[in-house]
Amino acid sequence: MEIFICKDYDHASKLAANILASHILLKPDSILGLATGSTPVGMYKYLVEKFNAGELSFKEVKSFNLDEYVKLPKDDVNSYYTFMYENLFNHIDIDKENVNIPDGNVVDPIKFCDDYDKKIDECGGIDVQILGIGQNAHIGFNEPDSVFYEKTRVVDLAESTIKANSRFFNTLEEVPTQAISMGIGTIMKSKHIILMANGESKAEAIKNMIVGDIDPKVPASILKLHPRVTVIVDEEAGALVKDYI
Ligand code: GLP
Repeated sequence: MEIFICKDYDHASKLAANILASHILLKPDSILGLATGSTPVGMYKYLVEKFNAGELSFKEVKSFNLDEYVKLPKDDVNSYYTFMYENLFNHIDIDKENVNIPDGNVVDPIKFCDDYDKKIDECGGIDVQILGIGQNAHIGFNEPDSVFYEKTRVVDLAESTIKANSRFFNTLEEVPTQAISMGIGTIMKSKHIILMANGESKAEAIKNMIVGDIDPKVPASILKLHPRVTVIVDEEAGALVKDYI
């Protein structure tokens, strides 16, 4: 695990964008695993800047998103589908046929999830997976006590996650209680994982992930067993680990 404590969110976003861009430059048909949430917004902004400057093309890239809420219409302002198009896909040259986002409204979610994992495997696996982290150290929507080898599936959201994500909705009741999420087993198969976090509210989760034992109660702690993980945090999120690294 390599850990970068950046001076602020902007610096962290730039670093993550540079690493992701270097993957694409070295392998133009990279398979990207992409994340939503407020954390990667700055990174996406820098990727769009690189595209606009003619430094980067996504023409051959394929992408797979980590997760999506169940039963939220695709075009809802809070769907991860809307998020990805607004923050990235509408602004770059990715072929929309190459964009994969879990569909939270499918009739047969079990088949959909199996097919999602199969499609990732058939593409050769994810080259670089972006992750945020929840305050309870969830990754994707793999909440505490998730089974480490699980694949993509429908999950129930923890009360604390519903509360944390309610900041984007008008009321707590509007927050979906389920999601489709890549499993930790799916995530662990990625060749390179970049986990990003910023702000004081993530400091405890980052400490538990880096310093604590590998424990299903801290889903992100399993990343310690992955051969290539880059953790990029700002000073606030890294405040409780700076004495350990
Ligand atoms: C959500 C998403 C995660 C994300 C996390 C943190 O629950 N499913 O993929 O990493 O929240 O979100 P934020 O970056 O907004 O703090």
